[in-house]
Amino acid sequence: MDMDEELCLCFHVTRRKVVNFIRVERPRRVGQLSECFGAGTGCGWCRPFLQKLFDQAARDGQVDAELPTPSEYARLRAAYIREGHGTPPASSSET
Ligand code: FES
Repeated sequence: MDMDEELCLCFHVTRRKVVNFIRVERPRRVGQLSECFGAGTGCGWCRPFLQKLFDQAARDGQVDAELPTPSEYARLRAAYIREGHGTPPASSSET
């Protein structure tokens, strides 16, 4: 997943926005990433990936963790939603 791909598909938050938020705002808790355009506050699918970036930044100051390709990421999220794990906001596409 490159920097201009959406990390939070519910609120269309790109990886770049999240990375910049982490670098500039230096959140102390992963939950503070929700202040980045609502990232993670929809279906919940992206939370483990937000956690991964947050943990990496806290551990070694880098925010370049490997994430799935955009198509794989979207496919896995669609399955997650179909299985009833989370409900995306009405403004979000489910695919
Ligand atoms: S993809 Fe981020 S909360 Fe749904």
